[in-house]
Amino acid sequence: MINFVYYSPTKVIFGRDTESQAGNEIKVLGHKKVLLHYGGGSAKQSGLLDRVIASLNSAGIAHVALGGVKPNPRLSLVREGIALAKKEKIDFLLAVGGGSVIDSAKAIAYGITNEGDVWDLYLAKKKAVACAPVGCILTIAAAGSETSYSSVITDENGNHKRSYNDDISRPKFAIMNPELTYTLPEYQTMSGVVDILMHTLERYFTNDRQVELIDRMAEGLMLSVIENAPKLLKNPRDYDARAEIMWAGSLSHNGLTGTGRTGDFASHQLEHELSAMFDVAHGAGLSAVWPSWARYVLKHDIARFAQFAVRVMGVEMNYFQPEETASRGIDKLEDFFRSLRMPVTITELGIKDLTEKQLDEMVEKCSWGGKRVIGQFVKLDPLDMKKIYQMAR
Ligand code: NZQ
Ligand code: ZN
Repeated sequence: MINFVYYSPTKVIFGRDTESQAGNEIKVLGHKKVLLHYGGGSAKQSGLLDRVIASLNSAGIAHVALGGVKPNPRLSLVREGIALAKKEKIDFLLAVGGGSVIDSAKAIAYGITNEGDVWDLYLAKKKAVACAPVGCILTIAAAGSETSYSSVITDENGNHKRSYNDDISRPKFAIMNPELTYTLPEYQTMSGVVDILMHTLERYFTNDRQVELIDRMAEGLMLSVIENAPKLLKNPRDYDARAEIMWAGSLSHNGLTGTGRTGDFASHQLEHELSAMFDVAHGAGLSAVWPSWARYVLKHDIARFAQFAVRVMGVEMNYFQPEETASRGIDKLEDFFRSLRMPVTITELGIKDLTEKQLDEMVEKCSWGGKRVIGQFVKLDPLDMKKIYQMAR
C-alpha cells in the first residue's frame, strides 16, 4: 500500500425528502445569497426546483437562478454564471442536478474567487487559490461529482473537454434523495451505472500491491451495483435499488477506493474525447471503450484481471489457463453492459462512421498534441490510443 491522504469532507444528507433541508444547511454555514444552478428542465418539470426554492425562502436565503446546463457542461454558460454571480454578490453555489450541473457550479465557484480566465485552470496553466462554497442536490447517480474533487468542462469552441481537480472544490454538502432519480430515462440511469462501475475499475486496475482491503471494498461495491442495476430495468421506482446505486456512486468517486494505490483513468481520458467531439453521454462512452482498453492491456497483469473475473464476475478460475479466466471476466462485464442496453462499441454508441481524420483528432487532443501519455496501470502513448479507438470501432 502506498502513502495516501484521504480527504472527503462533504456532508452527505441521504434519504427521502432531504431536499427540504437545503436552505437550513446553507444558513448554518453562514451564507446569505445563492446562485441556484440547474440543467435543461428535468428539475423544473418534476417540481424539485420549487421545493428547493421554498426551502431557501423559509431559511431566509436569497437566490438568483441560472438554468440551462447541458450534459457535457459548456464553458460559455460557466462564463455567464461567473458574471452573474459577481454582479449579484453570490456567496454560495447550489447545484440541483447531475455531474454536469455540479461541475458547472464548481467552475463558477472557481471563477468568482480567482483572478484571470477560469479556463486556464482546466488548461493546467495555473492552480486555483480559492473556490467559493458549493452544495448540491443530486438528481442522477453517476459522475460522483457530489463528493469528488473534479470539475469537467467542455470548451465548445473547438470541443475541448478538460478537467480540473482540487480538494477545495469538494461540495460542502450533498443532498441525496434516491426518489429524485425515479424520473430518469433508462439510458441515463444505465449510463450512470456504467460510470459508477468505471470509477471503481479505474482504481482497481493498479500496479500497487498489498491493497487487499480496498480491493475487497471495491469488489463489494461492484457486486452491489451489478446486483441492483437490473432491478431498475424492471422497476425504475425501486427505492432500495436506487438507494444502493446512489450511495455506490458517491463512494466510487470520493477517493475511498483509490486509497493506498495509484489509479489508471485511461478509459476516462479516451472517453472524454468521444463526448467532447460527439456530445455522447459519458457513461455510455465508457462502456463503448472499456472492453477494448481491457483487451489491449490484459497481458500486462493477467492475475489481476483473473481476480476481477473470479471475485466480481463470478467466473470459475482456470488454474491451467489463467488468461482464459481473465479474458472471460472482460467478456462477462461486456455482456452485463449489453444487458443494461449500453453500447459496447463506438458504432453502437451511435457514431456510425468514425473517420480516420476524426480518430486522429481525438488522439491528438487526448495526448495534448503528443505531449502526454495516459493511464498508470499501462501507460498509453498516442499510437496505443489510436489502436484502442480502432479496436472499439
Ligand atoms: O438537464 P436535465 O434536464 O436535468 O437532464 C439531465 C441530462 O440530460 C438528465 N437528468 C438528470 N437528472 C434527472 C434527469 N432527467 C430526469 N430526471 C432526473 N432526475 O440526465 C442527463 C445527464 O445529466 P448529467 O448531469 O450530464 O449526468 P452525469 O451525472 O452523468 O454527468 C456527466 C458529466 O460529468 C462528468 C462527465 O464527463 C460529464 O460531463 N464527470 C464528472 C466527474 C466529476 N466531476 O467528478 C467525474 C466523471 O468521471 C465524469 O467525467
Ligand atoms: Zn466517469
